Amino acid sequence: MQKIAVITGGGTGLGQSLAKQLAEQNIIVYIIGRRTHKLLETQAFSPNHIIPITADISLPEERAKIKTKLNNIKIDYLIHNAATAFPIIPLEKISLEDFRHIIAINTEAPLFLTQCLLSQLKKHARILHISSDCAHYPLANWIPYCTSKSALFMIYQCLKKEFQHKDIYIGSIDPGMMDTPMQRAILDDLVIFPEKISLAELQKQNLLFSPDYSAKYCVNLLLNTTPEEFQTREYVVN
Ligand SMILES: NC(=O)c1ccc[n+]([C@@H]2O[C@H](COP(=O)([O-])OP(=O)(O)OC[C@H]3O[C@@H](n4cnc5c(N)ncnc54)[C@H](OP(=O)(O)O)[C@@H]3O)[C@@H](O)[C@H]2O)c1
Repeated sequence: MQKIAVITGGGTGLGQSLAKQLAEQNIIVYIIGRRTHKLLETQAFSPNHIIPITADISLPEERAKIKTKLNNIKIDYLIHNAATAFPIIPLEKISLEDFRHIIAINTEAPLFLTQCLLSQLKKHARILHISSDCAHYPLANWIPYCTSKSALFMIYQCLKKEFQHKDIYIGSIDPGMMDTPMQRAILDDLVIFPEKISLAELQKQNLLFSPDYSAKYCVNLLLNTTPEEFQTREYVVN
């Protein structure tokens, strides 16, 4: 039977690489993002397999719209990849609005999109959270992002227990530092890296993975592991 995947943030970076690689495995991939033109760029890699859905996952009404668009479709793989790291700022400058914005995208959206689509998950479906080392290691100026990813990690751990008798499996993976639009924007920001570590320097030292490299690891975890292996721990791309 035709397998179905849903990926948030499929228009760029890791999400785009995941969509391409799953499509190569003959999986139908629904990709979600706010910018339609970016989703269409991803769709161009495999027009028969990749289907764009323009939506903002941080808004409840837009998540309901996603459910409507996916009506009657039974999902094998749900990948919570979309996130933002911005703003990266010290405590004195964090506004309540900014903090809630990051939490809404990185934490609330994966939780409530899973809830919204629960009845459409096939038996033995797999949900994958894209985590970050920021879930576990504190950084100055990164309170909103670190908090959002740390909370996402706890959601993964709680759902693992909650799904124990449901035939649904949940995994988590830290994709490593990747050369994506998010990482380029971080490296451009002089407040975050005052000593100006350049993208070129990181590339020279081989400290950045390509999103294709990290996606390959994620796809292998999704498609080629037993349920026990899939959810036993948070994996780290290396
Ligand atoms: N890059 C790294 O070094 C790194 C390291 C560790 C973890 N990660 C994690 O890896 C994942 C992928 O990141 P990336 O580096 O590939 O970043 P990216 O290129 O910036 O991709 C993020 C994607 O999320 C989408 N998105 C953001 N907010 C959204 C919203 N409200 N609704 C729908 N879509 C939204 C964006 O599309 P639109 O703007 O069009 O909506 C974009 O396509 C993230 O979870 C990130 O935290 C990245």
